[in-house]
Amino acid sequence: MSPARTRAWQQLAELATAALKQSLQSLSDAPVLTPLSVANCHFDFSKQRVDDRIVDSLIRLCEELDLDGQRTAMLQGGVVNLSERRAALHTALRGGAGNIDPSITADVAQVRQRMINLATAIRSGDWRGFTNKPISDVVHIGIGGSHLGPELVVTALNQFAAHSPRVHFAANVDAHELDTVLRPLNPETTLFIIASKTFTTLETRINAESARSWFLERTCSQSAIARHFVAVTTNTEAAAEFGLPVENLFPLWDWVGGRYSLWSAIGIPIMIALGPDAFDALLRGARTMDKHFANTEPRQNIPLISALLATWNYNFLGATSLAVLCYDERLALLPDYLQQLEMESNGKSVTQSGEPVSTHTMPILWGGTGTRGQHAYHQLLHQGTRAFSADFIVVRSCDHEFPEHHDWLKANALAQSQAMALGFEPPEDEPHRAVPGNRPSTTIILEDLTPESLGALLAAYEHKVFCQGAIWNINSFDQWGVELGKALAQPIFKALSGQADRRQDAATQRLIDRLT
Ligand code: F6P
Repeated sequence: MSPARTRAWQQLAELATAALKQSLQSLSDAPVLTPLSVANCHFDFSKQRVDDRIVDSLIRLCEELDLDGQRTAMLQGGVVNLSERRAALHTALRGGAGNIDPSITADVAQVRQRMINLATAIRSGDWRGFTNKPISDVVHIGIGGSHLGPELVVTALNQFAAHSPRVHFAANVDAHELDTVLRPLNPETTLFIIASKTFTTLETRINAESARSWFLERTCSQSAIARHFVAVTTNTEAAAEFGLPVENLFPLWDWVGGRYSLWSAIGIPIMIALGPDAFDALLRGARTMDKHFANTEPRQNIPLISALLATWNYNFLGATSLAVLCYDERLALLPDYLQQLEMESNGKSVTQSGEPVSTHTMPILWGGTGTRGQHAYHQLLHQGTRAFSADFIVVRSCDHEFPEHHDWLKANALAQSQAMALGFEPPEDEPHRAVPGNRPSTTIILEDLTPESLGALLAAYEHKVFCQGAIWNINSFDQWGVELGKALAQPIFKALSGQADRRQDAATQRLIDRLT
């Protein structure tokens, strides 16, 4: 059902007029939403522009849209991805939070054990290359959901990666990336992971073929492929055609969406870099958040409250973007990861049943690390004309020997959210210094940056995205919008490589002519 048809939506529209006139300070001094903590992740909503009546209406919106029932359907493996007639059971990859078909649990356990066997053999040196040397470098070839999660986690938790092979990532078809990765490597001690749910993605297919050529040109050994290439895919036929023996294939399932897949065999580079125990802790953190999401009443439910506040900010307070401001360099890749998770999931304009939506859906998610952003885009955040909301992410502890730095980092994070909330009214003759304030934000504090807290944080965002889609009545698990560009690139590639079979529209043709 369209949310705009609910009584709660009408109430929220009426409340928004007054809310836009109410100062955030009057709300944040006595916040109606208590801070909530799960798995050492602490969510503080006190700088959101809500009072009791608004929260009550948001909760009623959940009830009218049967968020409970929609959540149960997703967690139990119901077909929630209607356009592809699939379930979305990424929670089953970390133990599940609902009654899951035992055969699914068994399949997950079997693949997890194979992952552990592979990672343990590589980390211990037992896995030998074709010249009997241990693996020193792993190259993960994948893009989008087959890359962003693994690279985020490996990078963020690098301090847990001591004594493990170096893990590299190649995603873009721009060979400057692959060339930079391959140039220093020794093929005798390199393992390639080809990660592609479909095994048809252009970038991954071309990078994998070029990596195989690079390997064969240097080793002249086709039989060595089996010691230096593994694949993660649902498409075992295509992987076999690539020349991989079945024992080198790690299955994915169609009920795992790409952007929800780091918990699956797509996460092999995480397990190689950090070890099976750290990977298990990552799963444990996510599972704790899953159970919190499944069993907690709305007002205390972190993902649900986060989704409701986002709906309030986007659909009623006019926020045109969500800024994810990570005050920890180890989380530098988190905005990229969340861009796919949130915008590929909810950047939609038709409902689950195919009608045009009657409300706005996901705006732009962007972000970066603090304090760098303060010297780049915070000027716009403080004095720009556009409404936005922000998620500040701060880690209480640090993993270095410079405590004063970390105190300054945390002080800046809190100062920025304070400035965005409270603003500044200058003397009348200095209007250029005015900061309007009243910009809503959530501050998420991780006690420590560990596999468990990161797992819980990422699962919280996954479930928030699900709740947003359920509120907007859209499909958060398909991505038909990316198909057109892929199809259009084919004839343009032919034109650029001198095999044109037809001319393009005039504007595109002019650019082709310039680029050839
Ligand atoms: O961006 C489109 C998309 O299909 C994503 O949903 C997916 O994560 C990515 O491309 C890679 O797809 P695959 O894992 O099939 O190579």
